[in-house]
Amino acid sequence: MIKPQFISFEGGEGSGKSTQIKLLAKRLTKYGDVITTREPGGTIEAEIIRNLLVRGEKNKWSGVVETLLLYAARKDHIDKVILPNLNKNKWVLCDRFKESTIVYQGYGKNVDIKLIKKLDKLITDNLTPSLTFILDIDPKIGLKRSIRKANTETRYEKMSLSFHNKIRKAFKKIANANKRNFKLINANQDIDSIKDIIWNEVTKKIDAKK
Ligand code: TMP
Repeated sequence: MIKPQFISFEGGEGSGKSTQIKLLAKRLTKYGDVITTREPGGTIEAEIIRNLLVRGEKNKWSGVVETLLLYAARKDHIDKVILPNLNKNKWVLCDRFKESTIVYQGYGKNVDIKLIKKLDKLITDNLTPSLTFILDIDPKIGLKRSIRKANTETRYEKMSLSFHNKIRKAFKKIANANKRNFKLINANQDIDSIKDIIWNEVTKKIDAKK
């Protein structure tokens, strides 16, 4: 029996994470129970914090305040959903996790990355997914896609194109610095091709554990 793992999906707006999470969850059911979840959010209480973050005026909070809200939500999510399900031997697929904070608040909003890492250690004990997919898309294409989805969670989408380009660059930098844990995928290709690339990586992990 293969031990289920914690896998996260990261990327800019409109990169197709949620579609790929659903497809992977379906394929993984052969290998155990699977739960899909997201950040910010994933619990009733963390979804309340999500609402504060993803709606409203784009400059309403500093990056540090956002970081604190994100870690409050993350702690609730880890305690109530992520760890209990991993402990029950379930696969946990999460739409965004801590790399989004490093990228959006750290690189995007200039929060000291050392502060984020300290908080991560203190609050999550550095809980880290065993694999993170980063779906890379040109923000000009991604933003169009996500706005088309009649999305009302537009606070980050309202940020400038140069902000979103910074986010893209930071995700790529992180992926290239640690190719063992991060897989960078060109998200500007058809859904099935991306699905197969992801499956190939996950099966490599599964096989390595056999
Ligand atoms: P989503 O649109 O992918 O569901 O993500 C919601 C927004 O939250 C997205 O625009 C990025 C933002 N976000 C951060 O800024 N920092 C974080 O740590 C997380 C998890 C999300």
